[in-house]
Amino acid sequence: MEELRKKYIEAISDAADEASLEDLRVQAVGKKGEVSLKMRELGKMTPEERQVAGPALNALKDEINSALAAKKAALADAALDARLKTEWLDVTLPGRGRRQGTIHPVSQVMEEVTAIFADMGFAVAEGPQIETDWYNFDALNIPGHHPARAEMDTFYTHRAEGDDRPPHVLRTHTSPVQIRTMEKTGAPIRIICPGRVYRADYDQTHTPMFHQVEGLALGKDISMANLKWVLEEFFSAFFGTHVETRFRASHFPFTEPSAEVDIQCSWQDGTVKVGEGDDWLEVLGSGMVHPKVLEAGGIDPNEYQGFAFGIGIDRLAMLKYGIPDLRAFFDSDLRWLRHYGFASLDQPTLHGGLSR
Ligand code: PHE
Repeated sequence: MEELRKKYIEAISDAADEASLEDLRVQAVGKKGEVSLKMRELGKMTPEERQVAGPALNALKDEINSALAAKKAALADAALDARLKTEWLDVTLPGRGRRQGTIHPVSQVMEEVTAIFADMGFAVAEGPQIETDWYNFDALNIPGHHPARAEMDTFYTHRAEGDDRPPHVLRTHTSPVQIRTMEKTGAPIRIICPGRVYRADYDQTHTPMFHQVEGLALGKDISMANLKWVLEEFFSAFFGTHVETRFRASHFPFTEPSAEVDIQCSWQDGTVKVGEGDDWLEVLGSGMVHPKVLEAGGIDPNEYQGFAFGIGIDRLAMLKYGIPDLRAFFDSDLRWLRHYGFASLDQPTLHGGLSR
């Protein structure tokens, strides 16, 4: 018995895992285990022998069982310890900072412009950036021979050899959306259209792609006075201060009469401030929609009239946020974007106050 005891207690303490523990249990105290077989022999013993051997065997069985249970618990503890070691985590470490993008000043200004005009009842309309010759020019009263076509430095798309339809163009202004909207909804109309436009031009104040916001209001008695009020209201809300406008007679094929509009500003040490001083800065073209344009859009010029305007968005962003070079807008330089960009949750809104 002492041999059995030694053998199993040692083997149990050396067992490496639960499976070998189970083997040992079967070998020792299982139905046909060594200890169990010994117990069966008790029957053949004399009562005296049995009185000694019985309790001793029972004690041995108990001892082996508790050794098994203790070892099993120890193995489980060791496994848990090992896991804890590999899954260890220092919750006091500082978090890994994630780079956050910023809202581009142009996107920011588009949001602001949209919010201000929405407040005056203007909906947002959109049109394609690759435009037909007709929408970009003809429908806007710019026929084929018109000098405005050359002035606009248009990008033309390619037509296959032998295909002599006029090529599509990258829209040179947002004005084609006027026609598209007239066709789609008829009058009355009150929309703005912010978007990208393209002209082959590149210097400190010109990039081949830039942004405009078109405005169009058609009704039965809309006049130039309404145009002036809307624009002054817009600029004052946008710059957060009362802004005087100056209308200068001008010419666009699609408006009659036409006016270029300047906003009041001051120049001090090379920086410009809007809404004060007695200098003027040109920011948009506008006028009363030409009857031919209304006709092209399927609207009766004897019944409806109204105004249209086109504002350069990039210029507005430069003025409001003091950004000196237009080209940097489209360089995708991360340092520039981080400096001039807006936090996504920190956008000035109409209800929160547009100016900061
Ligand atoms: N489309 C003109 C431009 O790009 C601006 C404009 C729009 C002028 C609407 C008058 C009316 O210069």
